[in-house]
Amino acid sequence: MSVSILGRLLGVTMGITAGALLLSGCGDGGGGSSASSGGNVIPIGEYASLTGKEATFGQSSHSGTLLAVEEINAAGGVLGKKLELKTEDTQSKAGEPATVVRKLITRDGVVAVLGEVASSRSLEAAPIAQQLKVPMISPSSTNPKVTEVGDFIFRVCFIDPFQGTVMANFAWNTLKVRKVAVLTDVKSDYSLGLAQFFVERFKQLGGQIVAEQSFSGGDKDFKAQLTAIKASGPDGLFVPAYYTDVGLIARQAKELGINFPLFGGDGWESPKLIEIGGEAIEGKFYSTHYSPEDPSQSVRDFVTRFKARFKGEVPDAMAALGYDSVMVLVDAIKRAGSAEPAKIRDALAQTKDFEGVTGKTTIDAQRNASKAAVIITVKNGQFAFVEKVNP
Ligand code: PHE
Repeated sequence: MSVSILGRLLGVTMGITAGALLLSGCGDGGGGSSASSGGNVIPIGEYASLTGKEATFGQSSHSGTLLAVEEINAAGGVLGKKLELKTEDTQSKAGEPATVVRKLITRDGVVAVLGEVASSRSLEAAPIAQQLKVPMISPSSTNPKVTEVGDFIFRVCFIDPFQGTVMANFAWNTLKVRKVAVLTDVKSDYSLGLAQFFVERFKQLGGQIVAEQSFSGGDKDFKAQLTAIKASGPDGLFVPAYYTDVGLIARQAKELGINFPLFGGDGWESPKLIEIGGEAIEGKFYSTHYSPEDPSQSVRDFVTRFKARFKGEVPDAMAALGYDSVMVLVDAIKRAGSAEPAKIRDALAQTKDFEGVTGKTTIDAQRNASKAAVIITVKNGQFAFVEKVNP
């Protein structure tokens, strides 16, 4: 599409200039551009932590998202139009999500927004999507508050009351720990929530919480907290945090002679966990959404296609959920028979038994999904599947 037509189209429908659009240029989907009501493409937005502290979250999620968009387009698109993916980087930083999501909606005219991985960043952007009445689907934010923001906010993953329960049961039944210490990142809604849900369930089982210590995401020295934890005499340590911090915590715990089990949630998942944690992360456990070792046909096919597209890389949970977030959106656009944001919202709310890579997605009255969790351990420097827990 020529710049002048583009400019006219956008100038009329969205009140912005083509120049602003050309400066933006981060779309991966190719093709022209259009506003939601007309044009030959359907613009969809994605915001992800492509750089910064949680870069592997955004990069994985983006790869899954991109693969899904490419597959949909190769098969002819949706409602006779190609999807056009516009991607923005949140840099793993507070302050960015709201800015970039506003940009995606008001400047690029996206009809739906996919993102983020980290709950705090989804929580920051969700009020913008809600206010501007454009549906947002978080692929993998698990804090319950995300979808409580409003009726335009959805997710395609389980939530942390479930994840906390899964890990408390695992600690009690499989690890057989009875006295647990918890180390929480006070800067992360995800960490605070998951800690709370774990503690509630662990106490219900009859377990004891002997220490509750905290840090701020990005800290480098955890010795004071770990020393206090060791002194409290636990037989296990729950760390609901993100991989960079967890890697350092595991190393420093080992240096302090801590040898009781460490375990956590999906925030651990990253190749960087093993890089940073090294020997110290061996034999530790975390829960997540999917395992590439799942023998089901749909997972095997997905892993094969993903590896072919991304130089042999094995898709992790964020990649699988990023992929499913696009597929759930496309299913809703098809059922709506329209790419108008409000109609997509209504169709998303009706999503039932949609078969994806991470299992069946049914959107409940709170706009959440309910799915199985898997438990993973680190064995010989590799992630290894331990068990699957159904909701
Ligand atoms: N569930 C995490 C959060 O809400 C994000 C995450 C999802 C991390 C999946 C890794 C894998 O912040």
